[in-house]
Amino acid sequence: METVLITGASRGIGLELTRQFLALGYSVISTYRGQPSIQLKSLLVHSSLKLYELEVTDETSIANLVAKLSNVQLDILINNAGVIGSDKQSMEAIDSKEWLNTFAVNSIAPLMVSRALLGLLETSAHPRIITVSSQMGSLNRESYGMYAYRSSKAAVNKVMQVLALELKPKGIVVCPIHPGWVKTDMGGKDADITVEESASGIVKLSRSLTIEQSGKFLTWQGTEHVW
Ligand SMILES: NC(=O)c1ccc[n+]([C@@H]2O[C@H](COP(=O)([O-])OP(=O)(O)OC[C@H]3O[C@@H](n4cnc5c(N)ncnc54)[C@H](OP(=O)(O)O)[C@@H]3O)[C@@H](O)[C@H]2O)c1
Repeated sequence: METVLITGASRGIGLELTRQFLALGYSVISTYRGQPSIQLKSLLVHSSLKLYELEVTDETSIANLVAKLSNVQLDILINNAGVIGSDKQSMEAIDSKEWLNTFAVNSIAPLMVSRALLGLLETSAHPRIITVSSQMGSLNRESYGMYAYRSSKAAVNKVMQVLALELKPKGIVVCPIHPGWVKTDMGGKDADITVEESASGIVKLSRSLTIEQSGKFLTWQGTEHVW
């Protein structure tokens, strides 16, 4: 069975992705920062789950993770860890340091983590890198506010489009995806869909992704999203 690595799995979409991939029989490597949540630890009843600490913005933490995975054939990487950023994101209130931190997590870390895991992905017959982005970064959708979050997701879309082009000759599929507006700590209780619905769409998509889809911005339902 294939192996999937999911970042930011203590809660929200990452936790539910862990549950659903385990239920399908995958070997799952899930990462958390600090300590794993009780919910994530409880999934260790599955012997096919391994948990490792990863602070995605810390290159030492990334290197420590890679060192622990030396013999793993990695089929799917899901860059899920993300932050909404400060609650002050209007033009009047935005803070440049907070903005940079949002970029570090949402835009830069997905490339640094992907780069570090490339050697393991190259041992797979069908390697895929999925980055959980957001339609809030779409340049074609005009909306107000949330400068830091929106710009960080627009940036990671571009990063993944460039990476897709670069990795296509190696047969590595790279797609940023919009997971829907999801009822998590980040999405809030008024969001459109449950975390189970979002994760099941992402799981289904990640199992069927082809090299022809590489470099496209997709939704959790498998449709193409405007950039
Ligand atoms: N929910 C939505 O409606 C929605 C919509 C569009 C896109 N997204 C994207 O979907 C992804 C998951 O969101 P979610 O709704 O599940 O959010 P969430 O419930 O807030 O969970 C975010 C996860 O990312 C982890 N994380 C944050 N910063 C990290 C860092 N520096 N290093 C390692 N892990 C880190 C968190 O760890 P801790 O538990 O330690 O904080 C947490 O496990 C994010 O990329 C988000 O931008 C969500």
